Amino acid sequence: MTQTLTLRRPDDWHLHLRDGAMLQAVLPETARHFARAIIMPNLVPPVVTRADATAYRGRIMAALPADMRFEPLMTLYLTEDTDPADLAAAAESGLVKAVKLYPAGATTNSASGVKDFDKVRPVLEKMAEIGLPLCVHGEVTDADIDIFDREAVFIDRVLDPIRRANPALKVVMEHITTKDGVEYARAGGDTLGATITTHHLIINRNHMLVGGIKPHYYCLPVAKREVHRLALRDAATSGDATFFLGTDSAPHIDPLKENACGCAGCFSATNTLSCLAEVFEQDGALDKLEAFTSLNGPAFYGLPENEDTIILTKGDPVTYPAKIDTDDGPVTVFDPGFALHWQVQA
Ligand code: NCD
Ligand code: ZN
Repeated sequence: MTQTLTLRRPDDWHLHLRDGAMLQAVLPETARHFARAIIMPNLVPPVVTRADATAYRGRIMAALPADMRFEPLMTLYLTEDTDPADLAAAAESGLVKAVKLYPAGATTNSASGVKDFDKVRPVLEKMAEIGLPLCVHGEVTDADIDIFDREAVFIDRVLDPIRRANPALKVVMEHITTKDGVEYARAGGDTLGATITTHHLIINRNHMLVGGIKPHYYCLPVAKREVHRLALRDAATSGDATFFLGTDSAPHIDPLKENACGCAGCFSATNTLSCLAEVFEQDGALDKLEAFTSLNGPAFYGLPENEDTIILTKGDPVTYPAKIDTDDGPVTVFDPGFALHWQVQA
């Protein structure tokens, strides 16, 4: 007998769609299964103003195949020059659902990020006042801080002071990768949420580094020790409303990944739901999958749950293409390293 699982249609609370040919190729991979996604603004140049977000939203909708429905939830990239009035207008019009904080230099295309947090204080105060969430890339960039410690240090040095100065500000800790992140998020109350990626539930740093370097497992924040992966699994599968899916699906063409200075990012949009069903089943928590993919995110953002549903069926192992083709070049799909038995019904 086929096993089936019905979920309210999921949303992705952290997604990179890029632009141009890449956008055209990757958008259907998400829109096939997800109703909405928080769209990361780290284009070159970044999406900084209301006008930038309006234009980018237009390009996304123009790239959407006619037979698909999808709602991009736009974000603005916080810079030291962000104008609180422009940001408030973008939020009040319903266009923009969050603001993204990248510490300058933390990751791909983050050069215009924030260096001096005092400079963005008026913007953060405005956001707290209007209830607009701040999505945080939680890693310090100091050269003397080990890359594996950058999340924990960010929590102490940056995140906690911001939250103490602005207790009403809603914050999402994006793509948490550590036990420290899980514990801080869990204790944070109603104003704090955290996204977890598909790949961080599956890989630890050994997957990336043992037996030859695996550039397609390199992303930021970088995968950590097994103890941290287990803490993420525990958080995601617990049903705790603090935690929700943000795939951080971040496509780069293979020549830029398989490179002496390879780009950070795992592309997982294509098989994310199959991977997650397998993970939740392995942990005996299939009954918690819907909370993680479809309920906790809308609750945090104050948005309605999606009305329609998707059905996953379990059967013989399903195969996905190893790569998707784009007019810019091939993009490798995240390989979970184990067989996938669940798939979303067409
Ligand atoms: C992201 C990208 O490629 O834009 N890369 C990544 O490794 N996650 C940027 C980011 O979210 O850090
Ligand atoms: Zn990201």
